[in-house]
Amino acid sequence: MTPTFPDISISTERLVLRPFDEADAPALAEMMNDELVAAWTAVPQPYTTADARAWANGKAASVRSAGRGIALAVTEFLTQRLVGTIHVDRTDWRVRSAEVRYVTAPWARGEGYASESVLAVAQWLFHDQRFERIELRIAADNTASQQVAQKVGCISEGVLRNAWIARSRTEDGGWADIRTDLIVWSLLPEDLEVLPGRTVDANGFAHPEWN
Ligand SMILES: CC(C)(COP(=O)(O)OP(=O)(O)OC[C@H]1O[C@@H](n2cnc3c(N)ncnc32)[C@H](O)[C@@H]1OP(=O)(O)O)[C@@H](O)C(=O)NCCC(=O)NCCS
Repeated sequence: MTPTFPDISISTERLVLRPFDEADAPALAEMMNDELVAAWTAVPQPYTTADARAWANGKAASVRSAGRGIALAVTEFLTQRLVGTIHVDRTDWRVRSAEVRYVTAPWARGEGYASESVLAVAQWLFHDQRFERIELRIAADNTASQQVAQKVGCISEGVLRNAWIARSRTEDGGWADIRTDLIVWSLLPEDLEVLPGRTVDANGFAHPEWN
């Protein structure tokens, strides 16, 4: 039988990462109909309310039940507002590795929520699920996402040439596909340990002392 992740919620200082439910659909549709999401992810554009409903009502849960990974809604603990998504995918159960992708809603960017979610999921995968590797694959020009990878302590491993299709605005307001490279970043359990020469900030991030 294919292994699956347990049906869980993860709490951090400011966030609750929990399974999607029906009520998330309107905010999810709004979050995904965004320039940066369209540019850097492969979600349908425009992202309709029907797309959001299908995801929140079943597709997200099927990621877990099929053993592919786990897809969680990221919500603010204090307001319970939907502020993002985090998706563990392409799980290799023998190697105990998986890819992690994320989106932060336009109304919640720049608050450190993507980094906080990735770090929380990484700690859960490493400590509770005995995973040994997390991979992030990020389009070469996606500066914000590269920053997230760097901030959580990922190591950049190399370039997958021509491995992604990003989208760019055309003059008539549509979208054009552009082939681009992906940068591969990885995080291993030891990257989150505090090593000599590293310090840990209030959010639990390990940084080199010079940072
Ligand atoms: C990438 C994304 C998830 C970042 O979300 P976020 O919650 O704003 O990220 P954080 O607040 O955790 O930011 C982490 C770091 O990136 C920096 N950052 C955020 N947006 C940035 C931008 N547009 N340009 C440069 N740096 C940026 C932040 O300043 C922060 O670094 P700091 O703490 O040293 O200042 C968000 O921009 C997004 O949803 N983009 C569209 C979808 C996407 O690209 N997903 C990733 C696919 S691989």
